[in-house]
Amino acid sequence: MTEKSKNFLYKFIGGVTVASIIAISLWWLSSIDDEDDVNDFIQTSNNETEIDFNDKHSKIKIVISGKNIILNSSNPKEIDDNQISTLFSLSDNFDIYIVIQVKDENEQKEIFDAINQHEIFKTGVLNINKVLFCSTAPGKGHIARHIEPYIFVDDDIETIDNFSKFIPRAICVTDSNPISLKNKSNVEIVNSLEKSSIMKVKIN
Ligand SMILES: *[C@@H]1O[C@H](CO)[C@@H](O)[C@H](O)[C@H]1NC(C)=O
Ligand SMILES: *[C@@H]1O[C@H](CO)[C@@H](O)[C@H](O)[C@H]1NC(C)=O
Ligand SMILES: *[C@@H]1O[C@H](CO)[C@@H](O)[C@H](O)[C@H]1NC(C)=O
Ligand SMILES: *[C@@H]1O[C@H](CO)[C@@H](O)[C@H](O)[C@H]1NC(C)=O
Repeated sequence: MTEKSKNFLYKFIGGVTVASIIAISLWWLSSIDDEDDVNDFIQTSNNETEIDFNDKHSKIKIVISGKNIILNSSNPKEIDDNQISTLFSLSDNFDIYIVIQVKDENEQKEIFDAINQHEIFKTGVLNINKVLFCSTAPGKGHIARHIEPYIFVDDDIETIDNFSKFIPRAICVTDSNPISLKNKSNVEIVNSLEKSSIMKVKIN
């Protein structure tokens, strides 16, 4: 880790919450290209934040892109009503991480503050510390790679195309017919999350 990135991190320690440390770290992370730097940064923030992306969790890790899939596409500060029950049933079997691509830190704060109030976090179905933000589409993929989920869900064809090779299974939620994904044996294409095969998983 470079001196510069250390300073960047320490600047935020103190006044801010654990969640914003992670959010800001990952925001910054999404703009880096060098994989080693990225690895280093994530590892260090783990120690500071007590979120261990590699812990032995009994549930299967899933990373879901928030916009257009969970958040309302016309108002991303809302969680779509019809996704609540999907999230409830997924949470039985899956350890759910949400990654949200935002334009800037203002949008990040708006979305964070709005969804943080939502019942679904109070009931423990979702964990606000597992909601992560980034500024680019590849950023979503990089975050997913570092969380090392079993499944990555995104509505962006190019992101699935680029990152499905690093993750055992990927689900593309889209109304279009993505030819580039057709040949990929680990990619499932559905037009809504609740129609995907993971909704049928029963683990005892
Ligand atoms: C992070 O934690 C691990 C295990 O607790 C430790 O070995 C490592 O030195 C820590 N890294 C830093 C940068 O503090
Ligand atoms: C998304 O938000 C719009 C405007 O607030 C609302 O009319 C619509 O019902 C919402 N969609 C869903 C699926 O909840
Ligand atoms: C996909 O990979 C290409 C080539 O490396 C890159 O130009 C593009 O930005 C990537 N897109 C996403 C969404 O990851
Ligand atoms: C899919 O696989 C077939 C057979 O291996 C190949 O002929 C075809 O070009 C591939 N299509 C794409 C879009 O990669």
